[in-house]
Amino acid sequence: MEPMDIHSWSRPDLIRVRHLELNLDVRFDRRVLEGSVTLHVDRLSGGELVLDTRGLRIHAVENAAAFELGAAHPVLGAPLKIQLLPEASWVRVHYSTSPEASGLQWLDPPQTAGKLHPFLYTQSQAIHARSWVPLQDSPAVRVTFQAEIRVPAGLRAVMGAEMSGSHFRMEQPVPSYLIALAAGDLEFRPLGPRSGVYAEPPLIDAAAYEFADTEAMIGAVEAMYGPYRWGRYDLLVLPPSFPFGGMENPRLTFATPTILAGDRSLVSLVAHELAHSWSGNLVTNATWSDFWLNEGFTVYVERRILERLYGPARAAMEAVLGRRQLDAEMAGLREPDRVLHLDLTGRDPDDGCTLVPYEKGALLLRTIEQAVGRERFDAFLRAYFDHFAFRGITTADFLEYIRRELPNPVPLDEWIFRPGIPASAAEPHSGAFARVESGWPTDTSAWSTHEWLHFLRSQDPPDMPRLDREFHFTDSGNSEILHQWLWMAVKAGYQPAYPKVGPFLKSVGRRKFLKPLYTELMKTPRGQTRARAIYAEARPGYHPIAQATIDGIVGGV
Ligand code: BES
Ligand code: ZN
Repeated sequence: MEPMDIHSWSRPDLIRVRHLELNLDVRFDRRVLEGSVTLHVDRLSGGELVLDTRGLRIHAVENAAAFELGAAHPVLGAPLKIQLLPEASWVRVHYSTSPEASGLQWLDPPQTAGKLHPFLYTQSQAIHARSWVPLQDSPAVRVTFQAEIRVPAGLRAVMGAEMSGSHFRMEQPVPSYLIALAAGDLEFRPLGPRSGVYAEPPLIDAAAYEFADTEAMIGAVEAMYGPYRWGRYDLLVLPPSFPFGGMENPRLTFATPTILAGDRSLVSLVAHELAHSWSGNLVTNATWSDFWLNEGFTVYVERRILERLYGPARAAMEAVLGRRQLDAEMAGLREPDRVLHLDLTGRDPDDGCTLVPYEKGALLLRTIEQAVGRERFDAFLRAYFDHFAFRGITTADFLEYIRRELPNPVPLDEWIFRPGIPASAAEPHSGAFARVESGWPTDTSAWSTHEWLHFLRSQDPPDMPRLDREFHFTDSGNSEILHQWLWMAVKAGYQPAYPKVGPFLKSVGRRKFLKPLYTELMKTPRGQTRARAIYAEARPGYHPIAQATIDGIVGGV
């Protein structure tokens, strides 16, 4: 039996799409993608193919008896029902996207690093692929694809796929949320034999410096969990409005420019997105309720990469920071959101995206590792990635598999289905952080970003003027440190940092930075006035996903 995906109209149990041929024009003048997709299908039962769409204009369907676009549902979009001709194994849908497509961001030249050319990128996870391609938009359905993408002269299109000019192909089957496209003024720089980085020309040097360890990271995961199965691993640096830190599009991770700190201190994000090449892209959550299988495993693998490359002290600091942030966030969550297997009935899967699947998930794996020993656990994980490779699996599939391979390591039902952190959880510990906590620091010359973050988060209550006087946080050029500092400044009403709040919120679109700052501002009447004024200016530059989040905090404008 197929698991039911409540976030898709499609019925892959009846007719299953196997391969896509995209043929699209990128029209910056009208902010639309326009063209066709040919869908090749396996017919299991009946003659009706149901696709997911959101805001698409359907112009024609070739090689079909009839088609009908249903009513739009606020979360799921509209089902496109196509009656296939008897024996037909393909249909072609001619369509165009809406300028407001939730999975696309169209940027004007001023919103880019180079300021001269427009930029477009997609963000399909969780259920936004349907806003730019009519398809079966469920992570349980995998397709191979090829694409022909036309962009205006002087721009370059890239996809998470094998690329040659305007032609793209993906030979490994992928779920729809991993289909990705970007177009802009992009330059490429190799990092290693099978890795490289794309960025706008003004950022390419900084990007190549920051990501120099990428090839070593690939080797580190391969040594632990088996061969990298996607050929190349490249990175694409996006404009600052990208609403996430990173997105693990196969063969081409999309990344925020806010990790270009100049000192490689924020490359855990590269480790994270690379780790998804095993946990997530190879073994995929079958439904969005199983999201922790993607993210929890990925955070665990990410820290193993950091440990191999930079040593246990670095990995321990990241683990403690993660555990602390988890506790802070979980305190404000309803009980049903503190479990790993989420009930998303009636909700947008984007709403289930808290630190719980990430950090509680990773903590579960770390606890199992401690219980059975690292050697056995690594062998288990390696076999798990092989066993389920190129498949979507549910939490129940995982449970059945681990109960067979590693009986009774920890109380799994409690971890997965009950709120909070079980008492027997592994406790991360960092000696470096213990020193940070031991009093006002005298020598900080060797501190990393992690120590600074931990230092700031440990101040209770913070002496803001003294902190700023001695360490100049208001002038920090590190996005994570500046964000932490500005959030504390708003919370404490520390006026000298306020002039930086507006410019920060107008210069980045990363939801993780926006959400806490706007939330904190909204807690006082003066803050509300400030938040509304900033947001009125900043909103047009944010991605639709970030706009939806901040609309919910500040109120729509
Ligand atoms: N796949 C996620 C991003 C995502 C999650 C997009 C859910 C849409 C819906 C990606 O791998 C991720 O987790 N990114 C993190 C960074 C990471 C280092 C924790 C982010 O964007 O902050
Ligand atoms: Zn992730």
